[in-house]
Amino acid sequence: MKITLSVIKADIGSIGGHLRPSKTLMKTVEEHIEREKGSLIIDYRISSTGDDIAILFSHREGTGNSAIHELAWNAFVAGTAKAKDEGLYGAGQDLLKDSFSGNIKGLGPAVAEMEFEERENEPFIFFAADKTDPGAYNLPLYLSFADPMHCSGLILSPKMSKGFKYVILDVEHTEKDRSIELNAPEDLYDIAALLRDNERFVVSKIYSRETGEQAVAASTTRLHNIAGKYIGKDDPVMLIRVQGSFPAAGEILSPYSIGHYVAGFMRGSHTGPLMPVQAGCGTSFFDGPPIVTATAFCVKNGKFTEPVDCFEHPYWDYVRKKVARKATELRRQGFSGAAMLPYSELEYGGIVEKMKQLERRFKSEK
Ligand code: F6R
Ligand code: MG
Ligand code: MG
Repeated sequence: MKITLSVIKADIGSIGGHLRPSKTLMKTVEEHIEREKGSLIIDYRISSTGDDIAILFSHREGTGNSAIHELAWNAFVAGTAKAKDEGLYGAGQDLLKDSFSGNIKGLGPAVAEMEFEERENEPFIFFAADKTDPGAYNLPLYLSFADPMHCSGLILSPKMSKGFKYVILDVEHTEKDRSIELNAPEDLYDIAALLRDNERFVVSKIYSRETGEQAVAASTTRLHNIAGKYIGKDDPVMLIRVQGSFPAAGEILSPYSIGHYVAGFMRGSHTGPLMPVQAGCGTSFFDGPPIVTATAFCVKNGKFTEPVDCFEHPYWDYVRKKVARKATELRRQGFSGAAMLPYSELEYGGIVEKMKQLERRFKSEK
């Protein structure tokens, strides 16, 4: 029988600015789910990454199910009331609409969902990132599913030799989602040509070409496009099934040792390296650096095992030091050039006003 994994996350308020939600807030969200879940869901887990709270569900209702989405929405609404009570900063920040209307997509929270027939053993990893946007996963997904430098299974495992199919979304196309399907390895250069542009093209799904099964579901929401103006980075979530005909857990984690530069960081308007951190970690230096958490589970008949925090291992202490150094180096050049995002990606509208005022003061040179 098929199961569905749904992860729905939102920033509904945090302590000390945009750093980390309070324990009371997490508890309120959890209590709401526990109280209201009925027989709708099989299992769930609540976690935080930076200032975001994610709810991971397993159920049998399929993707885009309105009852599941409403349960998450109402949990975030209950959380927002608590966040207001506690005086948390940015209470309800990601709930962009006043009421729920069938599907949580387009209302603010980020969603990644996948329906599949459970394998006999079903290991998967849940990713969440903060102070960045969905394009942050582009490079890791390219390297884990298409590059034998990170995914040795592409040469060593007969179950992976056919490669993977990528579904890539054009997130600038706001009227209606527009996507393209490309196959690795044949279309490798085309995939790279799109994925280099992290702000416009993002991977939404990946499928095994051996079995046709879905390996990846990533959130592709751009708050930018929902609100009509920039109101925050989109802090993406992602689910990846691993092992067997999919890359091994370690092949999925391997690219995160790079600490590649992504968009986000302070005021969602800078470039910073993505630091792999433990679940529950907040943000700090320059409201960052951009962070990513990875939590592994096995699921059996919809029931989750205990979690394994993938970036808790001592290896990642070394990576974190390296990433901290990269962040410090780039921060030394402040607002200049590559350190700050291009005009179109700046999170704050203030600069638009400033440019208008300055425009009036320009004179043609004699
Ligand atoms: C970035 C982020 C923070 C805030 C910054 C200013 O996505 O959440 O860096 O942009 O702390 O926040 P406000 O404008 O709320 O004072
Ligand atoms: Mg936030
Ligand atoms: Mg956030």
